Amino acid sequence: MDMVRLDSPPELTMPIGEAMFSQRATRRLDPDRPVSDAQLQIILNAASKAPSGGNTQPARCLVIRDRDAIHEFGKLYFEAWWAKRRDAYGWTSKADIPEDSVYRLPALLADEMVNAPTIILVYSEPSGVAASSTFPGVQNLLLAARALGLGSVLTTLHPQVMERVNAMFEVPEAMEFHCCIPIGYPRGKFGPTSRRPTSATTSWNRWGQPPPW
Ligand SMILES: Cc1cc2nc3c(=O)[nH]c(=O)nc-3n(C[C@H](O)[C@H](O)[C@H](O)COP(=O)(O)O)c2cc1C
Repeated sequence: MDMVRLDSPPELTMPIGEAMFSQRATRRLDPDRPVSDAQLQIILNAASKAPSGGNTQPARCLVIRDRDAIHEFGKLYFEAWWAKRRDAYGWTSKADIPEDSVYRLPALLADEMVNAPTIILVYSEPSGVAASSTFPGVQNLLLAARALGLGSVLTTLHPQVMERVNAMFEVPEAMEFHCCIPIGYPRGKFGPTSRRPTSATTSWNRWGQPPPW
């Protein structure tokens, strides 16, 4: 396969620190504000620049732009989301989700996926390093979207729908599915993320020994 050298596109001017520290799961996407093909090309080029085991570059992205296809896929996403909650917690409707559950917002995304402006499904070609070799590219993709002012969220599917999803888009059987990422302009405001302090998640020289901060 031919390789290409790509320069950083002039559109990606957001400082990397700002992109990393403000990127977050954006589930409310504006269905009326389209994402352009040029923006998607920048995002996918950024993903392609990520490292992979032995530079094998096994990741393959399926970009869903067709409105009817997004609508059909969105219904399968909804089914998949609820299948995961059924398996994990026995929930079958929103009434089962506790008031303070972190799953309240993801449940809304399950409703809204039908209206996502664009959806990217990330697969990989068969390879010994496939799954882990898609991770850096996916993170580049999320950060590039953020730098362009676009919202995104990494989500997964459920085995219950995979055959139908793959049939819908004629995905070859050998491809391994990794994640589903809706992308669009954020609807409404979104605040900062909160994370565990690295002083609590980092060991220094020996497991359990705290870092110097
Ligand atoms: C492996 C993985 C799977 C995820 N699956 C879902 C999902 O199925 N539905 C969803 O709405 N968000 C999903 N997320 C998004 C996370 O919930 C989100 O990144 C996390 O809560 C942090 O959100 P924040 O960056 O806005 O603070 C997933 C994230 C990862 C990394």
